[in-house]
Amino acid sequence: MADILPESEALSRAVELLREGAAIAIPTETVYGLAADATNGEAVARIYETKGRPQFNPLIAHVADIAMAERIADFNPLARRLADAFWPGPLTLVLPHRAGSGIHPLVTAGLDTIALRCPRGFGARVIAALDRPVAAPSANSSGRISGTTAQAVAADLGARIPLIVDGGPTPVGLESTIVKVSDDGIALLRPGGIAAEEIERVAGLPLARGAKGVQAPGMLASHYAPSAHMRLNVTQVEPGEALLAFGPRRVAGAEKAVALRNLSESGDLREAATNLFSHLLALDSSGAATIAVEPVPLEGLGEAINDRLARAAAPRDS
Ligand code: TXA
Ligand code: MG
Repeated sequence: MADILPESEALSRAVELLREGAAIAIPTETVYGLAADATNGEAVARIYETKGRPQFNPLIAHVADIAMAERIADFNPLARRLADAFWPGPLTLVLPHRAGSGIHPLVTAGLDTIALRCPRGFGARVIAALDRPVAAPSANSSGRISGTTAQAVAADLGARIPLIVDGGPTPVGLESTIVKVSDDGIALLRPGGIAAEEIERVAGLPLARGAKGVQAPGMLASHYAPSAHMRLNVTQVEPGEALLAFGPRRVAGAEKAVALRNLSESGDLREAATNLFSHLLALDSSGAATIAVEPVPLEGLGEAINDRLARAAAPRDS
């Protein structure tokens, strides 16, 4: 079983394990990451093995700062402006990968671009101390809900990794926004912790959305899957259902729900993002066969919340 150490006591142990090629769970501001040395192929392979990923989806390489990022990828002026504005923070940039970066090819899964992110807090400190980029997908088994607490990570992956660094509940609560930056402009590959409108404001140009072939390759339709079925945008709760609510007013039949969690009583989308995965886990463990979900508005972080809900609701084999 994994050791669980508080952030304040974990730095040297985390660096030592990463140097040895282990995969360990670390907190970031978005979700917990399953981290390994991005320059060590065996260590990166251990990430896929631990998650049980069906394919080698490309991973995000996490850096300590912009200087480390510029040794790995080519930044045009627009990419640099976005990094200056949003790093450290929940923005991932997909950029042309530089030859000789030292990143193991398993990280990029054969693409000539690379996804880079500079996380806030413990993540950046551990990368700086290791002095190497760290590959880290969300710390959950493939297809499951991303872990936003050390306890959720322990319940899912604890038997398979040596260390979980406990930084408390992650403040953003869902994964980073991924954009691809090229000389043609910016494309939104995955909505996430920074609203698309904020990125457009800094970039001074619109994000291309839904363009063919530009989706992040790892965005399987069925993902973030709870065991329960999910019914979205409900106007009424059916008998036996659990309810994931949003805002101050309840849909009809809410009093019959076998379990209830509210993403945000006040209707705040940032608070809702923070609560999304932990509330889904809690309702799933209530044993209800179906989780009914109230409508969440599509603006701001609501785009990412609706994206994750749609994936959690997508049809699946198991
Ligand atoms: O907030 C986050 O981004 C978290 C924390 C741990 O940093 N990480 C995370 O990683 O969500 P992961 O592996 O679950 O998602 C990474 C996504 C995948 O959908 C993958 O397909 C996409 O990034 N991706 C990676 N490299 C790419 C590339 N070169 N081009 C397009 N998409 C890429
Ligand atoms: Mg993930």
